[in-house]
Amino acid sequence: MLSLTKKYPVNSVNTMRLLDKEFDIYITAADISRAVKKIAGQIARDYQDLNPLFLAVLNGSIMFGADLIREIPGSLEISFIKLKSYRGTQTTGNIENLIGLQEDIKGRHIIIVEDIVDTGKTLRFTIDSLQMRQPASIAIATLLHKPEVTETQLDIRYCGFKIPNKFVVGYGLDYDGQGRNLKDIYQIKTKI
Ligand code: IMP
Repeated sequence: MLSLTKKYPVNSVNTMRLLDKEFDIYITAADISRAVKKIAGQIARDYQDLNPLFLAVLNGSIMFGADLIREIPGSLEISFIKLKSYRGTQTTGNIENLIGLQEDIKGRHIIIVEDIVDTGKTLRFTIDSLQMRQPASIAIATLLHKPEVTETQLDIRYCGFKIPNKFVVGYGLDYDGQGRNLKDIYQIKTKI
């Protein structure tokens, strides 16, 4: 039987290593869950009876997308698109459209689900590509946002946490493919 009395951390550690980098715990699973529920509540209220189509940007938004839609009652749909602009811990700025959208989005209310908005190039590319297909509306839901480094004007309607410009992993976010399975979010350790 599961114990409900255990306090955080249950499956968490305060520091950990992934490949050649060390990370400190930054946002706990409990705080992530609270943020997801808050965003879900806002979306549920804003999109009542609109049957929104969530477009989750793979791979990073798998956890956030899956958790988010399960907190929203009523009719909705989800689909996945895949783009990439990152290698290691530095953005390349080169976005490759890896997996295109199959659905007809004309007249649909779209909610783009992102794990993190960094430079914003991925999102800009995604929005511009979607706008050509004449949706009724496009909104952005991101768990994390690094406003200091966002280079493009974006109207981010739903955001979990604004964070400084430091590399993070966990809850879908990776460092060279590693760390997506972590329940908490970790921040790269700064050497003192
Ligand atoms: P942008 O195009 O620079 O906004 O980058 C967006 C994508 O880069 C995100 O969807 C992530 O996949 C990746 N990314 C940006 N910052 C981080 C980070 O701190 N950790 C892991 N991946 C990141």
